[in-house]
Amino acid sequence: MNQPIAALLANALNEEMTVSEIEKLIEKPKSVELGDLAFPCFALAKKLRKSPQVIASEVAGKLSDTMIQEVNAVSGYVNIFVNQQSVTENVLQAILREKEQYGSLTPAAENVVIDYSSPNIAKPFSMGHLRSTVIGNALANIAEKNGYQVVRINHLGDWGTQFGKLIVAYKLWGDKAAIEASPIQELLKIYVKFHDVAQTDESLNEQARASFKSLEDGDEEALALWKWFRDASLQEFAAIYEVLGIRFDSYAGEAFYNDKMDAVVEELKEKDLLTQSEGAFVVELEDMPPCLITKTDGATLYATRDLAAAVYRKKQYDAKKTFYVVGNEQALHFKQLFKVINKMGYEWSKDLQHVAFGMMLKDGKKMSTRKGKVVLLADVLAEAIETAKRNIEEKNQALEQKETVAEQVGVGAVIFNDLKNNRMNDIDFSLDQMMNFEGETGPYVQYTYARISSLLKKGQYKEQAIEFDALGEYAWPVIQLLEQFPIIVQKSFEQADPSQVAKFSLQLARAFNKYYAHTKVLVDDEWQQMKLSFAYCVATVLKDALRLLGISAPNQM
Ligand code: ARG
Repeated sequence: MNQPIAALLANALNEEMTVSEIEKLIEKPKSVELGDLAFPCFALAKKLRKSPQVIASEVAGKLSDTMIQEVNAVSGYVNIFVNQQSVTENVLQAILREKEQYGSLTPAAENVVIDYSSPNIAKPFSMGHLRSTVIGNALANIAEKNGYQVVRINHLGDWGTQFGKLIVAYKLWGDKAAIEASPIQELLKIYVKFHDVAQTDESLNEQARASFKSLEDGDEEALALWKWFRDASLQEFAAIYEVLGIRFDSYAGEAFYNDKMDAVVEELKEKDLLTQSEGAFVVELEDMPPCLITKTDGATLYATRDLAAAVYRKKQYDAKKTFYVVGNEQALHFKQLFKVINKMGYEWSKDLQHVAFGMMLKDGKKMSTRKGKVVLLADVLAEAIETAKRNIEEKNQALEQKETVAEQVGVGAVIFNDLKNNRMNDIDFSLDQMMNFEGETGPYVQYTYARISSLLKKGQYKEQAIEFDALGEYAWPVIQLLEQFPIIVQKSFEQADPSQVAKFSLQLARAFNKYYAHTKVLVDDEWQQMKLSFAYCVATVLKDALRLLGISAPNQM
């Protein structure tokens, strides 16, 4: 209701402020006795050369609409009680009409590129990659709901000097059958061994450099090995994406840009941005370390490939916005990257955004992937699903499709645990906590949805024209939340912050459960269908919020 009320305020202010300016200023009053909304007049006082209280009184005098119940000017604020009845009708009828489209913006022909997940070939899928996958997927869904065409890109780490090391290690100690059976684990093993042995045998690193060079020069044997490592790793990643329900439009990773880097390096030269430094080429940057473009032997780097990727994607997709969903430890890399693009004279560098996130902790400590001490994501997911299955066995023996539901709940718990806090926070990975049906968890929201579903089934809910005129006081907080959903959808995109949707879903579930605790829905009175329609509206929005986060909503659990 902020938006329509802001429009009324703009009118009462003779358009001294725009609707969206006003909307941003509207607050919730300190106590509910004061009203549902408050508009502070302090910012206007200077401009209009009047005291805030005088402005508030004038505005209050002019505000009248069916949406407004009562207006008071108090200490420089316009305090507004909305007409709950008309807001209720507006919001619930909109949901009944639009269903899961409620809160969606009209699709426009504008692209948003999201670079996420992006694991490294022959390396385990880390907890950091899980975070990137989950956050990126939610952002992609949210961007779509905001009307954008979304391009989902998995920028695989499938190139770099580590492949020189892997090739050498494979030739020395590789076991083909073992790699075929369990690619990432085996490749990691020989990779770790390479590092151990190289500590005493310098020649190994020399060989690795040479191997990588031959790979870059297109040597057939080296390429065949590289391709094999890549395909086998992708197969393992695919299993994880399958469980998480994630898909990509493109798997163009670092290697894809091999034939596109010369042009970019050339362009940097032409634009006089390259400086030679001990045989290597760098772009000097003012307030940060220089960005390394080519090494002494001419080999390119991670940053060079990202540069080529950015230029290529601009041509290919011309995105209005590009999100790089990557851990905070790469903050400098992206700052340098964006700065170099800016120096190349591309104004679109401002449309590139590093969507950073904190670490995943276990018992307060970083989950390590070094030295072969790996927390395997596949195991973690399997454990979550197993726990969900045990919970279901305890609570709902008779449930149909236990396996499917357990997977939806286990995965939902992991995803929700990741998304419920601001992404910059480190998050703790505790299965017990994230699986708690009564906590601030995915299963809690899913459970609320399932309860409503069974309520609708028992009450034989049917779509019908209905008037919402007697929902009672406990429905009002629920309706206020439902009314906020479209704004949450927009803000979570603008701020690249899926946690707003996650928090919203928790609040909505909680508010509905409170309503339900105080209201008998399944009584055969004249209000039953109205109450069921209300419950249907809540279920529709809850399910859509979960969908945006990448979480399924089972009908029973
Ligand atoms: N593969 C990289 C890593 O695991 C992440 C790549 C992120 N995307 C990018 N365009 N740099 O650290």
